Amino acid sequence: MARTYVVTGAASGIGAATAEKLRAAGHEVIGVDLQGSDINVDLSNDEGRQAMADAVAEKSGGKVDVVVAVAGVSAMSPLSLKVNYFGMIATLELLRPLLAESDAPRAVAVSSMASFQPSDPEIIEACLTKTEDEVIALAESRDEQAQQLMYASSKNAFNRWLRKAAASEEWAGAGIPLNAIGPGVVLTPMTTDLVGSEEGRELLSQMVPMPLNGYMPAEACADLLVWLGSEANTHLCGQIIFIDGGSDVVMRGDLAW
Ligand code: NAI
Repeated sequence: MARTYVVTGAASGIGAATAEKLRAAGHEVIGVDLQGSDINVDLSNDEGRQAMADAVAEKSGGKVDVVVAVAGVSAMSPLSLKVNYFGMIATLELLRPLLAESDAPRAVAVSSMASFQPSDPEIIEACLTKTEDEVIALAESRDEQAQQLMYASSKNAFNRWLRKAAASEEWAGAGIPLNAIGPGVVLTPMTTDLVGSEEGRELLSQMVPMPLNGYMPAEACADLLVWLGSEANTHLCGQIIFIDGGSDVVMRGDLAW
């Protein structure tokens, strides 16, 4: 049966591939992005996030079956925290009342295998306990070297939020499975420069080893997002599924247990 999906980051990469698959299957997709989508807003600030929620409410008639939160940036700056942590959570929380109107609601987000790379524990803790303004002020006070940890920190903090929120009254208690995927290297505009240089590929081979089939197309992530948002997914709760060609098992091994 046709369902109504909201896909953020729908103009490019993983979000675009997901929206395309959903539309091809006959679903209604409301795309959100900075530009070139159905709703064009900036999810790095409160004004844009609220404008997104208002426009989705209007376009959907007040009911959404699935939220697929994909929009993100790989900035080595506080912008990663604004979009990948605060923007993603705001997307999920602001659309939750519309999901609650569905008979089979689902929410799924895109994290990253970068969530288990070196990060900034104080920033992560602040994300979980302080206001966005306080976190951004702390992040802006960090030196250039520490800025390199912002992307990993944003994804790590998001995973921690997700694992708490998913089991809460608002999500599991309301019958809404909330999960995420953690991709390895995906061939999208985000990684074009990195995989395009020998130096970048050398760095990636150390940071993101992918023994199974190497770098992946956006469609590989899209297929998993589509399943996680489907009615077939009834009991996954707060999982971050690493679709990473093996990075997790190579790098973390038994540390995960
Ligand atoms: P992409 O750059 O192709 O697409 C990201 C989309 O998000 C763009 O269309 C962009 O305009 C949108 N976006 C960025 N900031 C926004 C904002 N402030 N407001 C609204 N929209 C905004 O990148 P890709 O690869 O498709 O990334 C999607 C997600 O996947 C991101 O969350 C990223 O962190 C994550 N990811 C990507 C990996 C990769 O290797 N490409 C690996 C692991 C995770």
